[in-house]
Amino acid sequence: MLNRLANLLLIYCFLSTLIFAQEKEKAEQGLQVYKASYCGLCHQDTAAGTKGIFGPPHDGIAVIAEARILDPYYRGKAKTAEDYIRESILEPEIYQVPGFELSPHRMPNYKHLAENELDALIFFLLHQQEVINDQ
Ligand code: HEC
Repeated sequence: MLNRLANLLLIYCFLSTLIFAQEKEKAEQGLQVYKASYCGLCHQDTAAGTKGIFGPPHDGIAVIAEARILDPYYRGKAKTAEDYIRESILEPEIYQVPGFELSPHRMPNYKHLAENELDALIFFLLHQQEVINDQ
C-alpha cells in the first residue's frame, strides 16, 4: 500500500516537472516572438529587457488586462485576460488604452503571426514572471 502511494507520488512529481518544463519552453518561445516582432520598441518589459515608451508597459499585463475589460469604455469582446491580449495584438484599434489614444506611434496589428507564435507570445505575456525568476 505504502509502496503504491510512493509510486504514485513519484509519477506525480515526474509529470509536474514535465509540465513545468513544457510551460517554460512555451514562455521562452513567446519571448523570442516578442523580440523578433520588436514589441519592445514601443513597450517596456522587464522579462524581455525592453524599454519602449510609446505604448503602455507590459510588466503585470496579466492583471492589467483583467482591469481593462472592466473599463466602461471598453468595447471589445474579451472576457478573459488571455482574450484581451489576443485582441490587442490582432485588432489594436478596438480599444485605446487611456493615455495612449494620441500616441504618435500607433500599434500595428500582428495578423501575420502564425497561430503557434501568437499562442506562445500570449503565454509569455501571461507568465513572464516565471521566466524572469528563473534567469
Ligand atoms: C509602434 C508601436 C507599437 C508596437 C511595435 C507594438 N505596440 Fe502594443 N501598443 C502600442 C500602443 C500605442 C498601445 C496603446 C494604444 C492601444 O491600445 O492601441 C499598445 C497596446 C498594447 C496592448 C494593450 C496594453 C494594455 O495595457 O492594455 C498590448 C497587450 C500590446 N500592445 C501588445 C503588443 C505586442 C505583443 C507587440 C508585439 C507583437 C506590440 N504590442 C507592438 C504600440 C505598439
